[in-house]
Amino acid sequence: MNEYDGVVIVTGAAQGIGEQTARDLAALGAQVAVADIQLDKARDVADSITSSGGRASAYYVDVSERESATRLIEDVLTTYARVDALVNNGGIDAQGGGWWIDDDHWDTMVATDLSGQWWCTKAVLPAMIEQKSGRIVFVSSSSVYVGGTDISVAYCAAKAGLIGLTVALSSQLEQHGVLVNCLMPGPTGDTGTPMNSDEVPEYLERHPLGFGGAQPISDAVAYLLLPSGKWTSGSILNVSGGRLRGR
Ligand SMILES: NC(=O)c1ccc[n+]([C@@H]2O[C@H](COP(=O)([O-])OP(=O)(O)OC[C@H]3O[C@@H](n4cnc5c(N)ncnc54)[C@H](O)[C@@H]3O)[C@@H](O)[C@H]2O)c1
Repeated sequence: MNEYDGVVIVTGAAQGIGEQTARDLAALGAQVAVADIQLDKARDVADSITSSGGRASAYYVDVSERESATRLIEDVLTTYARVDALVNNGGIDAQGGGWWIDDDHWDTMVATDLSGQWWCTKAVLPAMIEQKSGRIVFVSSSSVYVGGTDISVAYCAAKAGLIGLTVALSSQLEQHGVLVNCLMPGPTGDTGTPMNSDEVPEYLERHPLGFGGAQPISDAVAYLLLPSGKWTSGSILNVSGGRLRGR
């Protein structure tokens, strides 16, 4: 018997954390919309899931474009008539830079890592409110609380905005049966932007849990979507392998 048979949209699911999440949710029984700006890779992931007995379809989305995000949600609703969960994972991972980044970098990061997650969420909420149930997961970053001499301030600002969205939306949507949470991943080590190689030894010395890979993040998403997550809303969930403490 399937542990979970909801319809789930995972953005940024062509690779990395999103791919792991899409595969794991499909293995639990979910019908997964594998959405990404890299459509060919999203198709490969969806095909691989279906060839191993799961249920998945690939969708193109550029989350930074409002019309594209809205179209994704409309297309999934047209096909399945409901969306049980939206995993807002797609985005540009931490980029180097600092306060001196140029304006294009700022615009791109905010459009993708903050507005992009909002456009998808805004488009899906009416259906979730009408069906009186839904789960929204934002994927932020532990970098928000850590910073760094060479991390994009636009990345940190955009990812911090997801915390505000989580707090505000969860307080407004629980009455409609929609639960909203935010993950704060630590460095996976094998997805996204790699840590500077000269920083790795010191990081590992100070963080004995090391790099987590995509699996712990995917496991946290499953916790939030399954019945285990029915009393968790407005949470900023620390899944950082010890990079963050006390929050
Ligand atoms: N890798 C880490 O250590 C780490 C740590 C903290 C947070 N995160 C966050 O986790 C999420 C996934 O990161 P990852 O490590 O899998 O990175 P990744 O770069 O491997 O994957 C990101 C995915 O998002 C897609 N994407 C990028 N721009 C898009 C757009 N405009 N529209 C739709 N899809 C788009 C990419 O095509 C890619 O498939 C990101 O939001 C990232 O910031 C990652």
